[in-house]
Amino acid sequence: MYLLELAGEGDAFARCEARSAATGVARLAPGLASARGIDPRRIRTLAYTHRASELIGTCECEVDAARLLLELAGIEREGSVRVRARRVRGADVDTQRVERELGSVLVERGFSVDLEDPDHELRAVFSDSTEQGSAERSSGTQSGTPRDGICTLGWLAAASRRDFAARAPTEKPFFQPGSMDPLLARAIANVAGAAQGKTILDPMCGTGGVLVEAGLAGAQVIGADTQWKMTRGARENLAHYGITFNLFRGDATRIPLREGSVDGIVFDAPYGRQSKIEGELKPLVEGALAEAHRIAPRAVVVADRPWSDAVEAAGWTVEDRFERRVHGSLTRYISVLG
Ligand SMILES: C[S@@+](CC[C@H](N)C(=O)[O-])C[C@H]1O[C@@H](n2cnc3c(N)ncnc32)[C@H](O)[C@@H]1O
Repeated sequence: MYLLELAGEGDAFARCEARSAATGVARLAPGLASARGIDPRRIRTLAYTHRASELIGTCECEVDAARLLLELAGIEREGSVRVRARRVRGADVDTQRVERELGSVLVERGFSVDLEDPDHELRAVFSDSTEQGSAERSSGTQSGTPRDGICTLGWLAAASRRDFAARAPTEKPFFQPGSMDPLLARAIANVAGAAQGKTILDPMCGTGGVLVEAGLAGAQVIGADTQWKMTRGARENLAHYGITFNLFRGDATRIPLREGSVDGIVFDAPYGRQSKIEGELKPLVEGALAEAHRIAPRAVVVADRPWSDAVEAAGWTVEDRFERRVHGSLTRYISVLG
């Protein structure tokens, strides 16, 4: 079993993305998930998972309980170690004391300590019991019923690469208002299936925010946009990150690709606020959904509304849907379609 340390505010969406890199992903506690198996190379590409660790066990959210858990654990490792303790969502524990106490248990068992470059890193993660919003509640949890927090111990197995800030929209050579944040762009690319040997299409690519992340996750990328300005700008952005691409000026409702020719489609539909819309919004989204269904078995659509009727009419089934409040008057709906 593995422990996943999630990032961001929405655990359900983080778990959905983590399923692109792990099997048997399930909720463990706020900010934490468990998994049966992981692909360490894919974990490296995740946006909303920080780390995956080989789970030693779980116990109450207390230093003494963590110490006992480690003392009783069978450890088939040798060499140098470091202990890293972390509090998730406000869990109340002294992390320095945890690191000292667990470190001394390991020293007693014959390990040496190396804080810079250890052979093994022991993760002690403490999560508060407070649930985060009704959408995140599992069916067995009654709202308002306090439960104890949890401590999890595990050996670090893989970590994601945290270089997203360097690709903020304003850091890219071509910037336009409405460009997508690289964390969300990476996550939806992963959910759509971006990986080595897979092809991802964004038929409304704008500045290429999603394509950059899909390309860096190892996928072949194809993009289209009705505006020359955007295809030129997206080209500049993709080239800047050394990504090979196929970009053309075109209409998302008429993409010149064969049936089933790409693995996943991602698009961030215009909201009718900032981005230039060719024609009316409704026929555009309906047409793009139908065209996506013809070309790919899977799609992830981001929009300012669920577009439920259009999704169904195009022949898609909604596998998952997430809502993210951006600000007072804008909520983003992320629909995972299959
Ligand atoms: C919300 S923006 C996409 C932003 C993009 N995700 C990014 O990070 O820059 C929507 C894009 O759809 C494009 N668009 C509008 N109508 C289109 C159509 N019929 N076919 C293709 N693209 C279209 C717009 O030019 C705009 O660039």
